Amino acid sequence: MQDLNTEFIERVRDMHEGDTYVLTTHGCQMNEHDSEKIKTLLDTMGFREIDDENEADLAIINTCSVRHSAEDKVIGHIGRLKHVKKKNKDLKVAVCGCMMQRKESRDYVLETFPHVDIVFGTNNIHRLPQLILESDDRNTTVVDIEQSYSNLDNRIFSKVDGHSAYVNIIYGCNNFCTYCIVPYTRGREISRSPEDILEEIEALVEDGVNEVTLLGQNVNSYGKTLEEKTTFAELLHMVHAIDGIDRIHFTTSHPKDVSDELIACYGELPKLANYLHLPVQSGSNDVLRAMNRHYTREDYFKLIDKLRAVRPDISLSTDIMVGFPGETDEDFEDTLDLVRRVRYDNAFTFIYSRREGTRADVMENQVPKSIKDERFQRLLDEVYAIQREKYEELHGTVQDVLFDSISKNDDSMMSGRTSGFKLVHAPYDADRIGKLTPVKITGGNTFSLRGEIVHATK
Ligand code: SAH
Ligand code: SF4
Ligand code: F3S
Repeated sequence: MQDLNTEFIERVRDMHEGDTYVLTTHGCQMNEHDSEKIKTLLDTMGFREIDDENEADLAIINTCSVRHSAEDKVIGHIGRLKHVKKKNKDLKVAVCGCMMQRKESRDYVLETFPHVDIVFGTNNIHRLPQLILESDDRNTTVVDIEQSYSNLDNRIFSKVDGHSAYVNIIYGCNNFCTYCIVPYTRGREISRSPEDILEEIEALVEDGVNEVTLLGQNVNSYGKTLEEKTTFAELLHMVHAIDGIDRIHFTTSHPKDVSDELIACYGELPKLANYLHLPVQSGSNDVLRAMNRHYTREDYFKLIDKLRAVRPDISLSTDIMVGFPGETDEDFEDTLDLVRRVRYDNAFTFIYSRREGTRADVMENQVPKSIKDERFQRLLDEVYAIQREKYEELHGTVQDVLFDSISKNDDSMMSGRTSGFKLVHAPYDADRIGKLTPVKITGGNTFSLRGEIVHATK
């Protein structure tokens, strides 16, 4: 909380201590992390988190624009809050996140939903206390948007559940993949200084964190905007050197920017998780070109070969989209072929969604919904069958698991992740929460594994 204007925080506390809030988060890890910061600020101001908007004093929706369905959910939610507010007159409604960064979506919300009290963006979370105070004094919507990122948001060292934390290292995106709205919401690429990042991680370690996930839309571009150039691989070495950090994750990597230096890190840095999320999007060179991805399927296979040469058992995950404009049956077969060859441990699959303002939205040959749906189902079947086999391959092995918490569905069990990011459930043992623990994998299904702690023989 250093460097933040504590005067406003204190004033909100005086007015609102004991008030309740519901925070709803849509979208990717960036948004999840931003929500952690919002939560930290609200908790500091004396607010208390609850589940039921009917009972709340403040409802905050952190929005995502990436697909039409994400925006639809948000619009529906804001609409429902109008009725909640009729019964619960003191409810304050705040809307933030990526949708609010785009003028078109923001104007739509402001015009359609006058019951929204506060609108802010992704670069001015630290101003929330001021915005709450302004809204206390006003009947109209308070709107505050910053186009470029503010380092003040980074001074909200977000609290973590358990022992794992997200850390921003690079903001925005310069890639302009033709389907994607993110460069229009999160702006141009800008890197945080290594000193800042390391300071935050050291503070998190003090707070009990031993696993970090370095965040950015394209972490491989890290350092290009810094005065003193630092590569992403160099940053990984620095983070690796911090005592108290046991495991390092990062997301997301663009295949065109995976350097040999980064691949070498998998051989040099044992704390680097045995996992890489490497979105491929499509297995067809024609589609990849139309998407402006700057690599071919052959380039991608080469990368995977190099990675597996350094870490033969590395877990790989990806994002894949079906139904990009102009995608033919043959293109789609190329995607299925790529999936079979790479054999992903996990894949996030999407149906292409038209986003206004992007180049793909005005492309001809949009694929009909029925074809998109059919391809999506075939892709899912393929992806899940491989995933199940990948999980089964681990049965009988011993994996280092970092346990986080009690399992959601069974409080006699705890959950954690392997270095390859697979979810593992094992009988609860309070001593093992937050510690790397060897676990013998005894079973599981397509989405999680079951295991037993291996106790050291004395
Ligand atoms: N920066 C990350 C991805 C951010 S968005 C990267 O480049 O890998 C996460 C995923 O959403 C993308 O990888 C893509 O598969 C999917 N996505 C983005 N725009 C989309 C759209 N218009 N329709 C469907 N899926 C989309
Ligand atoms: Fe979107 Fe492409 Fe940037 Fe990822 S790299 S955020 S998919 S434009
Ligand atoms: Fe969505 Fe914004 Fe993330 S558009 S995917 S929340 S960067």
